[in-house]
Amino acid sequence: MNKLFVVMVGVALAVSGFSVAQAGNAENGKTLFESPTFGGGTSGKTCASCHAGGEKLSADLFEREKHSVMGKEMGSVADIVNVCIEMAMKGKAIATDSDEMKDVLAYMEGLVKEKKE
Ligand code: HEC
Repeated sequence: MNKLFVVMVGVALAVSGFSVAQAGNAENGKTLFESPTFGGGTSGKTCASCHAGGEKLSADLFEREKHSVMGKEMGSVADIVNVCIEMAMKGKAIATDSDEMKDVLAYMEGLVKEKKE
């Protein structure tokens, strides 16, 4: 009985820890969003220079199935982030499954949500 309880708590913690890691850390994402060196940026700009408060981010950004930016089809929001890193910040694309990407996406989801409300 007691042992079973311990195992169950352990599983619950493991599962919640996993989902938090999956969802990304919005607070860290904000720091990256406001950092000129995110993605090795060299233009001196930050994501917030152009997207402060969710500017130019569509309200349905995280619901759309297809993305197109400047006439180019993109598979995911992460791909668009990489376009902005390369074109706007003059940096290098980062891995779309990296923690940094997850964190920035989590922060942007918050921005977009606030816009909708
Ligand atoms: C120099 C300005 C500039 C910077 C810096 C910039 N972006 Fe963008 N971003 C744009 C423009 C312009 C668009 C296209 C907006 C449109 O299509 O209306 C865009 C589009 C996007 C979109 C798609 C929005 C949509 O709703 O389709 C995302 C996501 C995005 N940027 C994220 C980022 C992130 C994350 C960063 C930082 C790594 C960043 N951007 C840096 C100018 C910038």
